[in-house]
Amino acid sequence: MIDVALLGAGRIGKIHAGNLVRQPGARLKYVVDVDAGAADTLAKQHGAASAQPEAVFDDATVRAVVIGSSTDTHADFIMRAAAANKAIFCEKPVDLALERAKACAQAVAKAGVTCMIGFQRRYDPTFSALKARIDAGEIGDPEMLVVTSRDPGAPPVDYIKRSGGIFKDMLIHDFDIFRWILDDDAATLHATGSCLTDPAIADAGDIDATAVTIRTKRGRLALINTIRRAAYGYDQRFEVIGSKGMLQAGNHRPSEVCAWNAQSVSIDKPEHFFLERYRAAYAAEMAHFFDALVHDMPVRTSIDDGVKALALAEAATTSWREKRIVEL
Ligand SMILES: NC(=O)c1ccc[n+]([C@@H]2O[C@H](COP(=O)([O-])OP(=O)(O)OC[C@H]3O[C@@H](n4cnc5c(N)ncnc54)[C@H](O)[C@@H]3O)[C@@H](O)[C@H]2O)c1
Repeated sequence: MIDVALLGAGRIGKIHAGNLVRQPGARLKYVVDVDAGAADTLAKQHGAASAQPEAVFDDATVRAVVIGSSTDTHADFIMRAAAANKAIFCEKPVDLALERAKACAQAVAKAGVTCMIGFQRRYDPTFSALKARIDAGEIGDPEMLVVTSRDPGAPPVDYIKRSGGIFKDMLIHDFDIFRWILDDDAATLHATGSCLTDPAIADAGDIDATAVTIRTKRGRLALINTIRRAAYGYDQRFEVIGSKGMLQAGNHRPSEVCAWNAQSVSIDKPEHFFLERYRAAYAAEMAHFFDALVHDMPVRTSIDDGVKALALAEAATTSWREKRIVEL
């Protein structure tokens, strides 16, 4: 049995709890949350106990921790888990400050523990099928990537204030997709943005719509467009153009029923938001984490990937604030 503790019993914590108890040989022992009621409820649901962080880090039988608490807690929990020799699954981003994220990666390397970052899009069946076909050479050498990443609505402004800004909170996933799909490093990055959907987001010092362009060290190009409020729903697509053609990854819909009448042809909107769209990806990433632990294998999305995506998010923040191209 692998005893596991979950830190954070919010939106994503609940998803991870449900997935980790389904892994053969895994047992959820503790749930930790500053909201004791949330910890208790989730713990009871899965036959676990609610606990303080000290109980988790002092308990040598706990082999792994899953960190799904607020972003500003990640670095501290990673450091403590590494010091206690526990395997770590941590949500994105590693931290809001690049230097602190790098320090976490050093601590993890020094302790020699597994540390996986929750870039679940790499485990999505559609996206991973597309990546396998690029790797098989179907479109030749990839030359350009266009990412569309639009949310159905902005989170509450209180969340935005603690989020580190749109590049670290939202585009961090798109920067990871860029690194994974093009398998290349950024040479230059330009980001621009506006606050178009809610002035309260501007008052909080953030933007809600962005356009980012990246030129890679090998001269490939990437364009990322995002907005926090797409009136028609959650829009997650990308296309990769290569020397022999193009591959597109489209949205998922709740059903494929199509209605035809005298005025129009209509079909379901895309799945509502990330909890629905990436349900299979969250399950697959947790299965991968436990598989890696059981078989002592490296994880596919390591803390180094977390640090590299954060470096791009930090460059984008600088580019937007200072209105200039950033060299990496
Ligand atoms: N990979 C993804 O698709 C994805 C999706 C959503 C959120 N996230 C990430 O997951 C994290 C949580 O996001 P969420 O949407 O679940 O937020 P949330 O606010 O619903 O949940 C966060 C939980 O952490 C708890 N918490 C805060 N400080 C704590 C502490 N010191 N110790 C223990 N618990 C503490 C809060 O009480 C809350 O229950 C964020 O870092 C976010 O970036 C990732």
